[in-house]
Amino acid sequence: MRKPFIAGNWKMNNTREAAKALVNALVPLVADVETVEMAVAPTFTCLQDVAELLRGTRIELSAQNISYAAKGAYTGEISADMLKDVGCTHAIIGHSERRQFFGETDEGVARRVRAALDNDIVPIVCIGESLAERESGKTFDVVLGQLVNGLASVKREEAARVVVAYEPVWAIGTGKTATPDQAQEVHAAIRAKLNELFGAEVGEAMRIQYGGSVKASNAKELLGQKDIDGALVGGASLVAEDFAAIIKAAI
Ligand code: 13P
Repeated sequence: MRKPFIAGNWKMNNTREAAKALVNALVPLVADVETVEMAVAPTFTCLQDVAELLRGTRIELSAQNISYAAKGAYTGEISADMLKDVGCTHAIIGHSERRQFFGETDEGVARRVRAALDNDIVPIVCIGESLAERESGKTFDVVLGQLVNGLASVKREEAARVVVAYEPVWAIGTGKTATPDQAQEVHAAIRAKLNELFGAEVGEAMRIQYGGSVKASNAKELLGQKDIDGALVGGASLVAEDFAAIIKAAI
């Protein structure tokens, strides 16, 4: 059985005081949750403070990005080593906002996935189609293309560590969630491709999160789908009670 995995992507929100308040509110709400893997992904500037507050809890710490390079002349980048140093166990890679606004490519995603795996950081690899791509019938081509290219360097024996997040771009921050059927249809195609790439034993063990306007009110139905193994939550992860309710919907 795949353990459900709920992660909160805070995006570019919260200075340190707000981040600490959010974590302090969240920790007691989910203290008794054992059957769901949980993580939060604060901004880089809050990682250290959040790491201290998460110590001794079951909530894991994720970065929102990771450099493909190990060190050196890469102004503005943060390496896997640095993330580990501050307590990160996970990194979100290839989020659609990075693809859309910061020129992230499938090739860059593949290199970042490699850097993460080489440093024992779990990559949360984001893929998803835009509204125009969906409306022109390209959803599966786009999503599976991003998947295959982004995981190009992943070896079969490493693949079980990788988490995939399917986030239809048209559902992110818009309040428009994919229906459970729409999401499951794409998740099933992702699963089939993972099975093809890494063998069924590995593919069936890999977690595929759904992301895009996940809320306490729709989480249970989405998470009830066969191939939806968790959620990558944006807006609702900024409110402790809402995020805790989504985590509890996965129990
Ligand atoms: P929202 O939950 O705000 O739609 O964001 C989803 C997302 O992009 C998580 O990475």
